[in-house]
Amino acid sequence: MSSRTASRALRSSLKQISRPASQQQRTFLSAALNAGRQTAARQTAPKATVAAQQIRGVKTVDFAGHKEEVFERADWPRDRLLEYFKNDTLALIGYGSQGHGQGLNLRDNGLNVIVGVRKGGASWKEAEQDGWVEGKNLFDIDTAISKGTIIMNLLSDAAQSETWPHIKPMLTKGKTLYFSHGFSPVFKDQTKVEVPSDVDVILVAPKGSGRTVRTLFREGRGINSSVAVYQDVTGKAEEKAVALGVAVGSGYLYKTTFEKEVYSDLYGERGCLMGGIHGMFLAQYEVLRERGHSPSEAFNETVEEATQSLYPLIGANGMDYMYAACSTTARRGAIDWSKRFKDALKPVFDDLYTSVKTGEETRRTLEYASQKDYRAKFEAEMEEIRSLEIWRAGKAVRSLRPENN
Ligand SMILES: NC(=O)c1ccc[n+]([C@@H]2O[C@H](COP(=O)([O-])OP(=O)(O)OC[C@H]3O[C@@H](n4cnc5c(N)ncnc54)[C@H](OP(=O)(O)O)[C@@H]3O)[C@@H](O)[C@H]2O)c1
Repeated sequence: MSSRTASRALRSSLKQISRPASQQQRTFLSAALNAGRQTAARQTAPKATVAAQQIRGVKTVDFAGHKEEVFERADWPRDRLLEYFKNDTLALIGYGSQGHGQGLNLRDNGLNVIVGVRKGGASWKEAEQDGWVEGKNLFDIDTAISKGTIIMNLLSDAAQSETWPHIKPMLTKGKTLYFSHGFSPVFKDQTKVEVPSDVDVILVAPKGSGRTVRTLFREGRGINSSVAVYQDVTGKAEEKAVALGVAVGSGYLYKTTFEKEVYSDLYGERGCLMGGIHGMFLAQYEVLRERGHSPSEAFNETVEEATQSLYPLIGANGMDYMYAACSTTARRGAIDWSKRFKDALKPVFDDLYTSVKTGEETRRTLEYASQKDYRAKFEAEMEEIRSLEIWRAGKAVRSLRPENN
């Protein structure tokens, strides 16, 4: 299948942001300012002072006819973050993928952040390599929690459950508990993560790997994240979550709940994001090979063209744009067959959602991660995938890309 640019396909990008003044010009000032004082301030302040009040524009965005609120980084400039968190110590517990990305972004934003990890572990060494200094901003987990006002639990999900009996008593009244996944509190029947009743419990879930959280921030861009509140004791939980979301490197945040976040996240990664797409790749490749095609042809028609040419077009401008940018032959067949694939796959996706919602996926994850030989088993599975003909062929194909020569 060949792809070519079709200028007609270029649609003007519709800016969906609508801003009816009544809905979207909600004033953000710290809770110290009540509505009356805001009005007085606006009436008496010269223009420059009004700007300095940093009006928060909560944007209502029309997502295909459904109006949702989003929060943008522009509403939380750095000075404002520094002011907002001036009395806080952000204790980031765990320094894996997310700990690394979120921690370094918080540090670069100038916030008072410390890292808590177990001494002697791989994360401790990585934190030291990233410039965290023992006794200054790198501590063991207990010390970091005792120093922190906002406890950012970025241990692996299995470790959150395992360490909870030890950590919970340290989460005293007035602290805030932060997660990047709804996994632990939502599936508390299995994880035993029953949060204390007197702390705010919030979530910022970056929609990407911690490495991407970091690279996008360094490029001056920002990851998209979801934001949610599980428990609001102070009345400021959402505002705090949004501010933290921006501070860790989000470009914008959309609202969800802990339940919806964990269901959609587990479902998505098992489906189109990873598991489903890998299954499609394997099925297509195997049939091509069984029908006599060479590995190079099978890989190019299955993975290389998808990732290098077509999927980026979907990402940039949508499915219709991608279809329009292809030949008539390709477009006709793809549109026809998409219906058959959808009908065949929808029951599988339905089973998957049920498996997530009933906790079966959580049970399996916790059981798998609790095995003593978990890392060895994981590596064996990676080796099995690495050894599949499709991915060995892929290695050869990638080596032929001119930029890799
Ligand atoms: N990775 C992602 O792409 C991603 C994206 C969005 C949200 N999230 C969420 O972010 C959170 C963190 O995920 P992650 O992927 O960053 O985790 P991860 O890379 O698996 O990091 C694991 C961290 O947990 C520590 N740890 C593991 N077992 C421990 C134990 N028994 N006691 C103490 N520490 C232990 C590790 O320390 P050692 O080095 O000492 O073992 C390491 O610092 C999770 O809730 C996850 O669902 C992840």
